[in-house]
Amino acid sequence: QAFDVAVLGATGLVGQNIIEILEQREFPVNTLYPLASARSAGEKIKFKGKDVTVLDAETFDFSKTQIGFFSAGGSTSAKYAPIAAEAGCVVIDNTSQFRYEADIPLVVPEVNAHAIADFRNRNIIANPNCSTIQMMVALKPIQDAVGIARINVATYQSVSGAGRSAIEELAKQCNALLSGREPQVEAFSRQIAFNVIPQIDVFQNNDYTKEEMKMVWETHKIMGDESILVNPTAVRVPVFYGHGEAIHIETHQPIDAEEVKALLAAAPGITLMANREDFPTQVGNASGKDDVFVGRIRNDISHPNGINMWVVADNVRKGAATNSIQIAEHLIRDYL
Ligand code: A2P
Repeated sequence: QAFDVAVLGATGLVGQNIIEILEQREFPVNTLYPLASARSAGEKIKFKGKDVTVLDAETFDFSKTQIGFFSAGGSTSAKYAPIAAEAGCVVIDNTSQFRYEADIPLVVPEVNAHAIADFRNRNIIANPNCSTIQMMVALKPIQDAVGIARINVATYQSVSGAGRSAIEELAKQCNALLSGREPQVEAFSRQIAFNVIPQIDVFQNNDYTKEEMKMVWETHKIMGDESILVNPTAVRVPVFYGHGEAIHIETHQPIDAEEVKALLAAAPGITLMANREDFPTQVGNASGKDDVFVGRIRNDISHPNGINMWVVADNVRKGAATNSIQIAEHLIRDYL
C-alpha cells in the first residue's frame, strides 16, 4: 500500500529534509504534494529524480492525501492542520502549536510509540522540540532501569534550528567579520558568529525561555512522568547543524556509569561512544545522521546518584524530519 503525502513547508529547511528522507527511507509514497505559500508556488523540487511543482497551501485540497508533514511555522499549522485533519489527512506537525494539548500525542518513537494510537482523537500527531527529542532518546533507558529524579541540562544548539535564514546569517556574519566589515544582526538578538547566545525563543514570566520550558513540558508528556524535575538552559552556538547537550541527571536508584553505557549500547536509535577519547561532536559524527550520539558518560563526583553525559544529534534530521517520518512509519505499520 502506498500513500498520498503532503509536505507543508516544502521549500523550507525541514520540509526539504522530509522530502529527501522520505526518498532515502523508501517511505511508500504514491503522490507527493509539496506545499508552501503563494510566494513559492510554481517552484520545482526534486523527488525520486523527478521535478515536482510546489503548490499553494491556501488552495490545496487535503482530501487528496492520507498523511501530511507540516513544518511551516506555528501559525501556518494552526490554520491548516484542522482543515487537513477534517479532510481525512493525518497531520504530523513539527511546530509547537499542538504539542501541549492533552488529546494530541507527542511522540518520540523510541520512547512512546504507543501514544501514536491516540492520533484518532484529532487526526494530529505532534513532533517534539529538537532538543527534547535527543534528550528523551538518551534518557529513556535510564528512566526505565532506575528512574530519573532530576535533569539539569545545558544545550549547545546550532543555527539551523532557526531555519534557513539563520544559517545564512551565520555564514554572512563570519564572512563580514573575516573581511573586516560590520556584521548585520537580524535572525538572533545578538551577533551569532564567534559568539554564544543564552536565549532561544521568547522569555517567560519565570525568566526561563520558551525553548527551555518546552524541554520541561515535553519531557513530562513524552516520559508520562510529571515527577521528573527538569532544569534547562538553552544556548545558541555558531554551529550550522547539530545540537549538543551537557546532561546531568540524578536517579532514584544509584547506577554506575558502566551500567549506563551497557543500557545505552542496547537501546534503539543510539550510537554509543563509550571510550572517553571518542566523544561525539556535531561536525564529523552527528551532522547528516539519524542516530543520537552519546559520549562522555561518567559518574558525577558531586552526587552519589549522579550521572553526566554529552548528547549530540542532527536537529534537522532526528530533531525534526527523521523523527516525523519514523512516526509515520509506525502509523502506517500499525494503524493505516
Ligand atoms: P515559502 O517558501 O513559500 O515562504 P524555513 O523554516 O526554512 O524558514 O521554511 C519555512 C517554510 O514554511 C517554507 O517552506 C515557507 O514557504 C513555509 N511557509 C511559511 N509561511 C507559510 C504560509 N503562510 N503558508 C504556507 N507555507 C508557509
